[in-house]
Parts: sequence; structure tokens; C-alpha cells
Amino acid sequence: MKPASNRFNAKDLWQKDHDHFLHPWTHFDSFKKEGSLLIVEGEGAHITDVNGKRYLDGLGGMWCVNVGYGRKEMAEAMAEQALLLPYANAFVDMSNAPAAELAAKLAQLAPGSLNHVAFSTSGSCSNDTAVRLAHFYHARRGEPSRKHIISRHNSYHGSSYLTISIGNRDGDRTPNFHYLSDFIHHLSAPYPYRRPDGMTEDQFTDFLVEEFKAKILEVGAKNIAAFIAEPIQGSGGVVTPPPGYLKRMWEVAKENGILFIADEVVTAFGRLGHWFASYDVFDVQPDIIVSAKGLTSGYLPLGATIFSDEVYESISQPGPDVWFAHGFTYSGHPVCCAVGLKNIEIIEREGLLDHVKVVGDYFEKRLKELESLRLVGNVRGKRLMMCVEYVADKATKAHLPDEINISKRISNLCEERGLLVRPLGHLDVMSPPLTLSKVEADFLVDTLHGAIEEVTHDLVKGGMLPAVARPIQHGGN
Ligand SMILES: Cc1ncc(COP(=O)(O)O)c(C=O)c1O
Repeated sequence: MKPASNRFNAKDLWQKDHDHFLHPWTHFDSFKKEGSLLIVEGEGAHITDVNGKRYLDGLGGMWCVNVGYGRKEMAEAMAEQALLLPYANAFVDMSNAPAAELAAKLAQLAPGSLNHVAFSTSGSCSNDTAVRLAHFYHARRGEPSRKHIISRHNSYHGSSYLTISIGNRDGDRTPNFHYLSDFIHHLSAPYPYRRPDGMTEDQFTDFLVEEFKAKILEVGAKNIAAFIAEPIQGSGGVVTPPPGYLKRMWEVAKENGILFIADEVVTAFGRLGHWFASYDVFDVQPDIIVSAKGLTSGYLPLGATIFSDEVYESISQPGPDVWFAHGFTYSGHPVCCAVGLKNIEIIEREGLLDHVKVVGDYFEKRLKELESLRLVGNVRGKRLMMCVEYVADKATKAHLPDEINISKRISNLCEERGLLVRPLGHLDVMSPPLTLSKVEADFLVDTLHGAIEEVTHDLVKGGMLPAVARPIQHGGN
């Protein structure tokens, strides 16, 4: 078969995109000059641009193409369901076969008594649903004052009006938009690398837990509906919490009748080697888990809010005028759910969770080698959810000046060499497909290594870095 790039006029497409498509997170100054990298084809862990150049997709799309590109059986599942029944209304008392099957399958895979599912079409909508569900749950239990949501700095929960307000990454807070604030509170990010000077990791964990308790006292437990947390903060910088943190936060939430919402939009469906990370990795039993992305490996948009028997029993207490007045035209969309089922079947059949345990551990270990490089302050994450944080000075952990745009310089060089990683502030982030082989993991690490070394050399040559790095004078970090 001819390469897909032959089917397109690259210049014409670039222009149409440039003139008409408003991208998520457009940076207008650079977009107007440079436009987009147009991708037209994918196979396994690789994608190809409109000019026929092939890349290892270190991003897995956007943390989502878990089973990899080019899966014929995913396309066939879509086609088959679309021909049989492309749409079905799921309001009130109507349903369809793939939605019923997928809800039951998720109930089987999710930890504990998380046996109920509300579907949407994205992580944002499913987090929105989780918050509305928490409000509804408390109101039905006779505690309607529980409306406040406790979240954390550096978190990202989506970009609807509600979820962007619950999240709190610095770059997302622009004065040109407006954010909800009267019932949303942000605690410190569990960011061990940048914890206050002089604190051990254990003391830092104590500090974070005490901060949560103090916030509960300030707001009043009777006013708090839920605590929401990504087990590992994804686009806030792959912030991997100190050991024991998440469990202690969960215990505090439980003691205070606060629902624990685990936003597993990134961490579920194999990225950390498990269906869900909350219980298997962090020993936490959430009341609600939110999933999207890897649920269909990005082949079609689908989100799921998976919640406990206890929540269900409370919300569904008898009452003639009780309606769960929430949901979407595309809740339980049959084609999306059919793809979700096929995706799970592939992960099970190919043993991808076990594969991630092996290749993910290898990738993590190899990537850690980069900490020996002068510009690399910290490599963190777990298995196939990793990032590299760049610093000007390892002793002070000071970042390089923003105008150097370090992560973009390095990712641009990787791109030239056939690798895509995601620049985010002072980090390059990676979340490759779960099918990644050891050879591909080596290519990823070696290419990134080479790019960092070359950029370091250029910065020294250009007088933007001193020729010799300052030695680290203190341990402890
Ligand atoms: C942890 C987390 N939650 C929610 C979302 C929002 O998902 P969506 O973009 O599908 O709305 C994202 C997206 O990156 C995410 O990383």
C-alpha cells in the first residue's frame, strides 16, 4: 500500500489548518509563524507526518494510544457496530448492548465495590460528572451543604469551565479567562523534588497531610464534598507523590466523610502496568474513579465515571421526584463502547499489563541514567508515564531562563531525529504506547540523551551556560 502521505498536498493542508483550526492550547505567536506538524498515519508505536517522515511517538498521542496505532480489529469493531447500530439514546430507561457490556466489564476490572458507571465522551466531562455525582450523593444522604472540592496545585482535570477551575497548573491560569473559585480549594502539589529546603520526604508527607487537615478545619468537613487527585499528576509535571502520601490523604478524606475521586484519566488502562493504579499501585480504594484516554486507546472519544455501591445505594434511595438530572446525548455511545470492549480484549489477550511491568521498568531504569547529565535535575514517573526536568544548576535546582525554552529546544532536536516527546515548561514528558519494545525504549532514551548533550554544548558555546557546572554541595535530595 502507498504511504498515506502521498494522498495529501502537504502545503495545502498546512494552510487550511493554519487558517481555520483553533487548536487546544494554541500559542498564537509561534502558531502563526510555524503552524502544525500534520500527522497522517500510524502503525504500532510510530506515526508519520504529511511529508512522509516517521517518528517514534513518545507521547502515545496524548497519553492515550495505549494499544498502539493501526489496529485493524479496533477499526472492524467500529465498523461492525456502526452498521448494526451507530447511535442509541441512553436517557432514562433506554440502553444498548455495548454500553451494558462495557459497564459490566469496568465493574469487574475496577477495585472494590466500584460497580456502577456513568459514561461521557472525555476526561473533562467524566470529572464534571464525578463532581456532580458527589454533590448529588451528599444531598441525598441529607448533607446538602457538602459542595466544596479540595484539589491540588499542578493538577489537571480537564478544560471545561468546572474542571479547568478544579485543576491548577500555572500555565493554565491566564487572566484572559475566568475561573470558578468560591467552592474550590488547592493544596500543595506532592512534588518531592521541589519540597521546601531542609525537609526530608517523610516530613514533606507529614506537612502535606497536615495541610489537608487544616484545610478541612478551615472549610468545615460538613461543607466538603470531595477530594480529587490524579495518583500521579500528569500534565502538571508527572509529579509522583512521596511514598504513603496518597493513602494517608485517602484516610483523612474517609475519616471526614469526604469522597475520594481518583482521576485516572492517564494512570488507568495499563500505563503503570495495571487496569487502575489507585489500589494496585497506591493501596487506595477510591469512591469514584474517572477514566478516559486509554479506555479506548484514543481510537474514539469515551470517558467513564466509575463509582461505588455505597454511592449508588445512597443516590438511588426511593423517592418519586428523584431524577439524576445529568448525562449527555452521547452517554454510552454504542460505537465508542464497542471500541472500549475491543481495547480491553486486546490488552487482556496480549498480556499488555505484564508487558508494561517488564518494559516499563526497563524504560524507567534507562531514563534514570539521564540524571548523570548536567542539565537533568530529576527523572521521575513510573513505567510508561515519565518525565525529565531540566535545571541550570543541580545544587540550587534553579531553572534555565524561560527564553532558552529548554524543553522545546531538546524536543525539536528529537523531532529532527525521529522521536516525539512533549515539551512542558522545563520538562520533556513521555507516555509511549504500551506495546513499546525494549529496542524502541532504547531508541527513545538514546535519542533524548543525544539531544540533551547537543543542546548543552550549544548553550555553552553560545555563552548561555558556564563552561563548567557547579558541583552539588549538599546531599539529601
Ligand atoms: C488527569 C487528566 N484528567 C482529565 C483530563 C481531561 O481529559 P479530556 O482532554 O479527555 O477532557 C486529562 C487530559 O489530559 C488528564 O490528563
